[in-house]
Amino acid sequence: MTVTIKSAEEQDKMRTAGRLAAEVLDMIGDYVKPGITTDELDRICHEYITGVQDAIPAPLNYRGFPKSICTSVNHVVCHGIPGERRLKSGDAINIDITVIKDGYHGDTSRMFFAGKPSVQAKRLAETAFEAMWLGIEELAPGKQLGDIGAAIQQHVEKQRFSVVREYCGHGIGRSFHEDPQVLHYGRRGTGMPLKAGMTLTVEPMVNAGKAAVKLLPDGWTVVTKDHSLSAQWEHTILITGDGYEVLTLGADARQAGP
Ligand code: MF3
Ligand code: CO
Ligand code: CO
Repeated sequence: MTVTIKSAEEQDKMRTAGRLAAEVLDMIGDYVKPGITTDELDRICHEYITGVQDAIPAPLNYRGFPKSICTSVNHVVCHGIPGERRLKSGDAINIDITVIKDGYHGDTSRMFFAGKPSVQAKRLAETAFEAMWLGIEELAPGKQLGDIGAAIQQHVEKQRFSVVREYCGHGIGRSFHEDPQVLHYGRRGTGMPLKAGMTLTVEPMVNAGKAAVKLLPDGWTVVTKDHSLSAQWEHTILITGDGYEVLTLGADARQAGP
């Protein structure tokens, strides 16, 4: 597949899809409390996406994924399947939302805590957040994919955490996962140069222990091999004429003025 450049009209549709995905995360945050199950979080998001937003939850039936959102708790790296598990105080959870609106995808995830997190869980989530933003701040026409990976990897490894290698960011648009692959590690001055009109995700997965992961027999759930904690954040971003525009900012970040 080749990299797609979005027209002005397509960019507008991507803006809408991105905003809707962010609004789901804004909505679900208050529900993340000890005692709720990940199935309940899935159902609330599903109802909101289909009923309020008149949009489609992209994960549902995507290559056989059985639910509408991904919920990745503690040592789950990504693609956790919602189920009967109840969150307990101190659990860290990544909620990953992808919606399709008017044919275009918006993809974003954040970390949440049920009750009070451990010092390590909080530091890990903060490091993954900072790493995502350092990667995003590299984005501009002419910059190369290796610049993004290098910025992320350098920050994570400085904190003595590790970057997951097997999963990466991606181009996004009419398809959920388009070219290019956006690696969260790499070397500056290498890789594909970016162009205005590209839309892609940056979504580093950061492990407290070693980088190695394994896939559970359900075919989806990815966990750290050493069972250490893992954290992830994700935004969908448009490359503009002179930099970037984050399409999945939450309401707080979108607000202008004092
Ligand atoms: N939202 C994930 C991503 O960031 C992909 C989830 S695929 C699913 O690319 F099938 F697990 F939903
Ligand atoms: Co993604
Ligand atoms: Co995602």
